[in-house]
Amino acid sequence: MMHLNRIATFFIMATLITLAACNTPTEKNQSSQTSSGPTDRKWWKEAVVYQIYPRSFQDSNGDGIGDLKGLTSRLDYVKSLGVDIVWLNPIYSSPNADNGYDISNYDDIMKEFGTMADFDVMLAEMHKRGIKLVMDLVVNHCSDEHEWFRQSRSSRTNPYRNYFHWWPAEKGKPPFRPGSFEVDGSGWRYDSLTNSYYLHYFSYKQPDLNWENPKVRQEIYAMMNRWFKKGVDGFRMDVIPFISKDTTFPVITEKFLKENYNGAWDQYMGNGPHLHEYLQEMNREVLSKYDIMTLAEGAGTTKATAMNFVDPDRKELDMSYHFEGVSLGYLPGEFKQMDPKGYSLVAFKEIYSGWDSVFANKGWGTIYLGNHDQPRMVTRWGNDSPEFREASSKMLSTFLLTMRGTPYYYFGDELGMTNIKFDRIEDYRDIETLNMYAQIKSKGGDLQHFLNGQKISARDNSRTPFQWDATENAGFTTGTPWIKVNENKKVINVAAAEKDPNSTLHYVRKLVQLRKDKKDILVYGKYTLLDKENPNVYSYTRESNGKKMLILLNFKTENAAAHTGLDLSKARVILDNYPAPSAGEELRPYEARILELD
Ligand code: GLC
Ligand code: CA
Repeated sequence: MMHLNRIATFFIMATLITLAACNTPTEKNQSSQTSSGPTDRKWWKEAVVYQIYPRSFQDSNGDGIGDLKGLTSRLDYVKSLGVDIVWLNPIYSSPNADNGYDISNYDDIMKEFGTMADFDVMLAEMHKRGIKLVMDLVVNHCSDEHEWFRQSRSSRTNPYRNYFHWWPAEKGKPPFRPGSFEVDGSGWRYDSLTNSYYLHYFSYKQPDLNWENPKVRQEIYAMMNRWFKKGVDGFRMDVIPFISKDTTFPVITEKFLKENYNGAWDQYMGNGPHLHEYLQEMNREVLSKYDIMTLAEGAGTTKATAMNFVDPDRKELDMSYHFEGVSLGYLPGEFKQMDPKGYSLVAFKEIYSGWDSVFANKGWGTIYLGNHDQPRMVTRWGNDSPEFREASSKMLSTFLLTMRGTPYYYFGDELGMTNIKFDRIEDYRDIETLNMYAQIKSKGGDLQHFLNGQKISARDNSRTPFQWDATENAGFTTGTPWIKVNENKKVINVAAAEKDPNSTLHYVRKLVQLRKDKKDILVYGKYTLLDKENPNVYSYTRESNGKKMLILLNFKTENAAAHTGLDLSKARVILDNYPAPSAGEELRPYEARILELD
């Protein structure tokens, strides 16, 4: 018997857990600086990306759901941040089993979000302000309500049958595959209509598309071309490493899963036999024709395999984001439970420095601490108590905006928005939390323990409405919001932050401007970690053409000192999140200091 609870949690945890390096690194010569090296200039390297969860940004019609008209009405605010690119979570037609990650029509807009005419206005208004738009591309799976799937399930001989992965029941039960977001943990669902099972790595409402079928690939490329012709500037590609499957579906034994969960991912799911062939084909048929950017959600990728996606010579994608950073501090073998001891800053530094070195000579990295799948940055990585919330939000923002790699900044982090920490399961909306709760309940597990853990790790923590002002629904809606507004909107909101010259908001604007003013150093310059065993302070330099900047970040609630070994006698402070900073190495709680050395 499979331990279903464990297996189901594995799938989600696997995206969180660092994967063992199983594959050999790319054989290409990594030491030579080529024209595709890290100092090769590209607009998407110099950009700051601002991610907006459209459901929670601005409602325009009082139905409690954010929409495109609302978003368009707030573009001046977005522009005021100085960001260059907006990444929007999926806005296509969807029955919303997984908030838009289950698409029923790729060529239409979700009715709650508006119409294609609203989209055209939004895109034009973004471009008018010099903001580019990156859309979410969800093509590992679609919705079971997509016409392709309706056709496919209708009969074994339907022309769309092979658009999905079917397993005829007369062959017995298919070999186990994990199905994230399923109460029973299984990635196969039995469909009595044709006496067959279909594959879904996520919920049964998200059947996996069969990329081994060339017709499927052509449909997807044509759809992408239509969006590029409309003028979108790029795609963030949802779980793209999963698209190719070994369709013989070899058995993953219970023994193997027990001993090597991570290897199972890399071997069976995140690294299919034709993955890179398909990405190269996509590049030839679509991506290479436009001046756009692409970002892979690098689920199941490691430091050893990441370069295969973004090596410019391979002509696949531009950037990828890893899960090693955001997995730090979780307890192994449990569903998203934080280690009560917190996380180790030394390990944190090692992870981000290790990933920087992957792209030191070739390719390009990314940096993020929050998104719609993660809790709020300040709660998870800083300190959301009233005493330290602003200082630690500013400190973490300093990290994001001074590292090498394109920053992906999550909306609301510029206000220091925090986790909402729901007490009751009834307040949650996310399929992941609801189904995991049901699963634990069905097994007689500890529900209170689960709910306590979710206060820190649940995805809904970062999906609550954006806090514009101190009014009842924070200026987000005049109706009833689809998910509760955080009560701390009374103090944490744009209106208050605009008025306070020391707010996180103003500080983040300065950081974004600084990254642009010092582009040679802060975007393209070399990164060097200093004082790596220091358990409290993260120190590093960025340098280019003999010009050097030093960044000092105190991650703790106590005063702490950096020991960089550098001569700081002539150092000048460029930015600090405390008033009246010294130019030395002593830091106050969560202090962030940027110094110029020559
Ligand atoms: C990605 C998305 C996540 C979604 C999942 C299934 O991880 O970021 O929100 O639930 O894919 O599409
Ligand atoms: Ca609305």
